[in-house]
Amino acid sequence: MATADSLQARIDALKQEHRRLFGDAGTIQVFNAPGRINIIGEHTDYNGGYVLPAAIDISILAAATLRNDRQLHLKSQNFPDKVAALLDGLTFSEQRSWANFPLSAAWALEKHGIRLPGADIVFQGDIPLGSGLSSSAAIEVLMMKTMLALAGRTIDKTLIPVYCREGENGFIGVKSGIMDQFIITFGRENNALFLNCETLEHRLIPFCNADTAAVIVGNTKVKRELAKSAYNQRVEECAEGLRILRSRIGRNDIPSLSGIDREEFDRCRSSLPDLIARRCEHVIYENERVIKAVDALEKGDLKTLGKLLVASHTSLKELYEVSCRELDCMVEAFLQSGDVYGARMTGAGFGGSAIALAKADGAADVIKNAQKVYEERTGINGEFYICRIADGARELSV
Ligand code: GLA
Repeated sequence: MATADSLQARIDALKQEHRRLFGDAGTIQVFNAPGRINIIGEHTDYNGGYVLPAAIDISILAAATLRNDRQLHLKSQNFPDKVAALLDGLTFSEQRSWANFPLSAAWALEKHGIRLPGADIVFQGDIPLGSGLSSSAAIEVLMMKTMLALAGRTIDKTLIPVYCREGENGFIGVKSGIMDQFIITFGRENNALFLNCETLEHRLIPFCNADTAAVIVGNTKVKRELAKSAYNQRVEECAEGLRILRSRIGRNDIPSLSGIDREEFDRCRSSLPDLIARRCEHVIYENERVIKAVDALEKGDLKTLGKLLVASHTSLKELYEVSCRELDCMVEAFLQSGDVYGARMTGAGFGGSAIALAKADGAADVIKNAQKVYEERTGINGEFYICRIADGARELSV
């Protein structure tokens, strides 16, 4: 989607906007952070499980200059309001809407004793908001990279997603896992990333050749309005499952649901309340699917990978209950085509996007058919694009 020319045009327009808003404020530094898809491993990250996400070629840009006080002046070309905040005593504020996400990253750095300078920053993004492609984690990582560079500080790369997640948990109040911030930091062109969210061990997995297979994103255009409370509720339900299973198994040191294997779980399943058992079953079986998916991807076995995607979607729909009618329609619309290996919702769910893994030469027809079927069934004109797997967040030399 993003060509070098279109990226340069975005950068030029952003720098111009920075000068218009803040005058000639010295050297403008420009940073970029991508959106992400998750190929498989959903709602496993905050349960210490496995995930297989990839960074994609839609992104948010930041153009930034230093100030000589401790104020942050933030403007996004995607929103009308300009936000000013003092770095001392930063707190979440409903009125600051979108700006809470970048502010959460500054808050986390300061919490870890990294004293930041003030800055004038303009953002511009082409990740559709609420599309499940992680625009919020992208702006968090982007802000963290920007502020570290302006402060002339470096930290261990792994601490970037760790601190961003702390910001999301402690400042924004979403009890999310680390997957999004991790892939946005560590993504690599043409590779998916296999991550153990308990140990943070990770490995790049070359993604299939673009001539063979295409990843199609289908945005349902249903925004994830209820996501925050429903998401936190799932986190609680899993924590409850872990508490009960620890006591049934008689081991208090099991670190997370992902420390329980399928046999152990199957033995204890009947002692859990039904709803909690279904949530736990999803997590424990989804971890197995991720391992099988990595194996299939490494062998180039796209048929098996496709079946795992479909099984993941069914589990998210029936056991974890985070899909919705539109996501199901999108997945079904994709699966009608013989050129699709598999499809599933991606990200938190409750709206947002689904992905399909398709034969590269059939992808355009898959989109045409899915667009038609999705609109017939939902009345919504969905948005589709074939994504390229891109690099993680970085400073651009401009
Ligand atoms: C959101 C969260 C992630 C992860 C996914 C579901 O994207 O930010 O941490 O939990 O949902 O897999």
